[in-house]
Amino acid sequence: MDLDMIIEKRRSVRSYTSFVPSDRDIEKLVVAAGAAPSAGNLKARKTFVIRSRSKKMQDIIEVLHQEWVSEAPFLLLFCADTKAIEKYGDRGRDLYCIQDASIAATFAMLRATDIGLATCWVGAFDEEGISKAFGLPSHLRPVSILVVGYEK
Ligand SMILES: Cc1cc2nc3c(=O)[nH]c(=O)nc-3n(C[C@H](O)[C@H](O)[C@H](O)COP(=O)(O)O)c2cc1C
Repeated sequence: MDLDMIIEKRRSVRSYTSFVPSDRDIEKLVVAAGAAPSAGNLKARKTFVIRSRSKKMQDIIEVLHQEWVSEAPFLLLFCADTKAIEKYGDRGRDLYCIQDASIAATFAMLRATDIGLATCWVGAFDEEGISKAFGLPSHLRPVSILVVGYEK
């Protein structure tokens, strides 16, 4: 799909069918996220794939308080890596790694639209709750969750 069409088509979807995207398609989103630019090319972000019916998905949904998310077959969790960006000091920790994670999520989101998947960016969550539910180490800060599936 042309980029202008992808940009035009993308919108937040909050209702999903039970049809599960293939691992190959989810991998395309992860690859797109990995191709995003990053400060000093340090890639100070981590992407995690969470499947529906996994314990992690259930725990995360409990923390999110956004019921519609439970319909989705996949979540992609984007985290800022505060350790990987240490050399840039406060600006690295407070800004660059958040930007790195956000650009990666944006790349994944646009790629999803490109291959016919629906998404919604979710950022309204209790950071500590998500970290606990996912068992994140302290240097990984959850920045956004991309809900992924097929639109109902
Ligand atoms: C930083 C950020 C946080 C967001 N958090 C949520 C959220 O927690 N829940 C939700 O349903 N949508 C969330 N959204 C999606 C926005 O509501 C949505 O992008 C906006 O209303 C514009 O609609 P569109 O994406 O269809 O163009 C978020 C979007 C961004 C960029």
